[in-house]
Amino acid sequence: MIRVAVLGSTGSIGTSTLDVIASQPERLSLVGIAARSNIGVLAQQIARHRPRLVAVFEAEQAAALRRQVNGAVLVRAGVEGLRELATHPDVDIVVVGTSGREALVPLIRAIESGKRIALASKELLVMAGELIMRLVREHGTSLIPVDSEHAALFQALQGVPREEVARLIVTGSGGPLWGLDRAAMAHVTRQQVLHHPKWQMGPKITVDSATLMNKGLELIEAQWLFGMTLSRLGVIIHPQALIHALVELVDGSCLAQLSVCDMRLPIQYALSYPQRWPTPLPGVRWQDLSGAQFFEPDPERFPCLRLALEAARAGGTACAALSAANDAAVWAYLRDELAFLDIPHVIAETLQQHAPSAHPTLDDILKTDDWARQTAQELIRARQRVSVPAA
Ligand SMILES: NC(=O)c1ccc[n+]([C@@H]2O[C@H](COP(=O)([O-])OP(=O)(O)OC[C@H]3O[C@@H](n4cnc5c(N)ncnc54)[C@H](OP(=O)(O)O)[C@@H]3O)[C@@H](O)[C@H]2O)c1
Repeated sequence: MIRVAVLGSTGSIGTSTLDVIASQPERLSLVGIAARSNIGVLAQQIARHRPRLVAVFEAEQAAALRRQVNGAVLVRAGVEGLRELATHPDVDIVVVGTSGREALVPLIRAIESGKRIALASKELLVMAGELIMRLVREHGTSLIPVDSEHAALFQALQGVPREEVARLIVTGSGGPLWGLDRAAMAHVTRQQVLHHPKWQMGPKITVDSATLMNKGLELIEAQWLFGMTLSRLGVIIHPQALIHALVELVDGSCLAQLSVCDMRLPIQYALSYPQRWPTPLPGVRWQDLSGAQFFEPDPERFPCLRLALEAARAGGTACAALSAANDAAVWAYLRDELAFLDIPHVIAETLQQHAPSAHPTLDDILKTDDWARQTAQELIRARQRVSVPAA
């Protein structure tokens, strides 16, 4: 029996993970779950999945849930609660599916205590990839990607010696705005931006898909996961989203991973690896491939992809600054405090003010994250002042 902890259980990745665990009762058992504040959904998950430990990041909500469950389950609060769950002696695998940066330290502690990690939260690798992968090696554990493109690369690379790999390519559907020009993007509604054509995901990653920042973050993620230089990584837009990634080999052959768009598949593989278990999911309908299209991404229409590549080239703390500025800009957009087309401007101006330092420590990374969020917020406020007409 593989014993699992799920960080971010109330979100899109978290609920899919609980579905996978419930569908494999002879192979998987749930030890604990964690969320930020959504105690309504947590209470339902406690009733249905019976975890032993629940971590609620916000202290007030943790206290409210504690009163509600009346001793039936252990409820912990804050980052300490996340850490306690992620390092619990009864846990074999920690699924990290939180948004935001707060799970970084609990993730590091989980690696240090030898837990196997199934990682969906790409921002944590973007912020601290060098540190995380070094700790994974030092502690002799493994970090299996859940992000569908990286799960696809991980699968296609099984049994392939690294020196035989020429290039790794992540595909992307192009997101909700792929068909629009810049002029039309200036007028998109939030409803359009949040309506992803292929995947049902949380709001932050859905906006990242619309700006194509998501593909940029994925290239940085792939750099760390597979130890590849940027020059050997690429992005192809494939609107049908049947092929999730491609591995080009030195002899000109190419390996692909194909499947329906359902995160339960990469999540289950991260939990079952190196085995494969049956799922109730449909296979690929081969006739759907007859309409498959492939395009180069367009950095003019999607400047966030270019910004991510620039940060990756700068290295060190630049990627932490990129991710934090992007996070601040995306949430400001979702709160109606920033125009959609201003997201890349805020990120670019933040990066211009950042002097990256190489081989950052955890402290350097957290300080950069704080600084970039604050800088981005100031830039967002300055834009608001300009756009509000004087009385
Ligand atoms: N969704 C996908 O298909 C997908 C695919 C690939 C990668 N990812 C990555 O997976 C991560 C999660 O994405 P998502 O779409 O599942 O997001 P989401 O639906 O917004 O869910 C986020 C989850 O994280 C929890 N959370 C946030 N801050 C927390 C904290 N400080 N402590 C504990 N829990 C916290 C939230 O709890 P509350 O509900 O209480 O706020 C929620 O459970 C992101 O990094 C994303 O890039 C997602």
